[in-house]
Amino acid sequence: MCAYVIEGGRKLSGSVAVHGAKNSVLPILAACLLAPGTCVIENCPRLSDVEASLAILRRLGCRAERQGEAVVVDATAPTGWEVPDRLMREMRSSVIFLGAILGRMGQAKLCAPGGCELGPRPIDLHLGAIRTLGGRVKELGGCLTCSGRLQGTDLVLSLPSVGATENAMLAAVCAQGTTTITNAAREPEIVDLQGFLQAMGARVQGAGSSVITIEGGHPLHGCTYAVMGDRIVAATYLSAAAAAGGSVEVTGVDWRTLSTVTAVLKEAGCQVRSGRDQIWLQTDGPLKGVRPIRTAPYPGFPTDAQAPVMAALAGGSGCTVFVENMFDSRYRHVDELIRMGADIRVEGRVAVVYGVSPLHGASVVASDLRGGAALVVAALGARGESTVTGLHHMDRGYQSLEDDLHALGASIRRVENLKKS
Ligand code: UD1
Repeated sequence: MCAYVIEGGRKLSGSVAVHGAKNSVLPILAACLLAPGTCVIENCPRLSDVEASLAILRRLGCRAERQGEAVVVDATAPTGWEVPDRLMREMRSSVIFLGAILGRMGQAKLCAPGGCELGPRPIDLHLGAIRTLGGRVKELGGCLTCSGRLQGTDLVLSLPSVGATENAMLAAVCAQGTTTITNAAREPEIVDLQGFLQAMGARVQGAGSSVITIEGGHPLHGCTYAVMGDRIVAATYLSAAAAAGGSVEVTGVDWRTLSTVTAVLKEAGCQVRSGRDQIWLQTDGPLKGVRPIRTAPYPGFPTDAQAPVMAALAGGSGCTVFVENMFDSRYRHVDELIRMGADIRVEGRVAVVYGVSPLHGASVVASDLRGGAALVVAALGARGESTVTGLHHMDRGYQSLEDDLHALGASIRRVENLKKS
């Protein structure tokens, strides 16, 4: 069993650069399928979800290989339109391939991803978008079969789903005519996807606002594009520094995409300064409780930062109320934090955190990506040794969690064969 062994209580100091954003690179890899040419995706993180996307592209008949920090995808002549169950299950976001496969190949067959560690994850908005664009969608035996010539249209999302917005953008690029997506998600990763599509020759505008306009049907070509830095990895490292104390610089991330997170950390007593693509955080002494933190679509407080920030505040002093508005089952880290001495009460979407300073080390299990990162954050600020298992969750979204934290002075090591006690 793989585990992190963490000796808490060491202050962090130094500078760390974040890798490319998981939530940008996954739709960008799907978008590579759209152009009959070769795309070079720079700053492509080494994550298991990226490997899963590359496996899907290969299955579809593309050449996809890593070259240093980049991946190269040649989609000159894709041959397939089916993604088998095994590949779909490896990555929850594989449904993002739907719009791209249908758009490029005229048909698509994907086995629907089931529920996930964050609770049921419906895809009705994805399917509704494809249908509105003229795709025929059949759902049979857990598989989706889609076909049809796509036509530009007015598309209104009933809520600003990130994945549905991305799927609609990819399909609309291939549709004939103009598509307007209203109530689109405004996440920075959608702006990054627009940047990539524009670099391929697509006519897309408005990403970052609630209305995105796509003039579909224009010829696309290969391109070279660098993925933006991962704001959630940055939020995790800032939370780690806030929990453990010290002085840390996080680089490679646009500070404006993290202003709701840094505002909370400031309110909790940290000193935070931001430059163009870096954020400095300094703190000493336990964090204070802050006003309620409500997760919301961008530019609200990101649901993906809820767990790491909660872990930092759980080891502080004072009380903070969290309201998780985006997903059910996004408090699975709470029971593990309680094993470390945290005082957290959950009722439905609300978690009330009473700071206990310091937490103590314990053996804990990660059950999702950001929840797992939260356990590491808590362990760094806790007194004594912790072991964190379930690392395959963190490997989906953190390229070098232990190396980065170790370089900042944390006592953290990855043990490949921890014996079960
Ligand atoms: C993306 C991110 C994930 C982040 C989430 C919210 C990626 C790969 N993942 O996930 O890290 O936590 O945004 O910021 O980018 N919904 C429906 N029907 C649908 C689609 C979504 O009801 O068809 C609901 C979901 O259940 C959820 C809400 O919409 O309650 C937001 O989900 P969505 O924005 O779609 O998240 P993802 O794209 O899955």
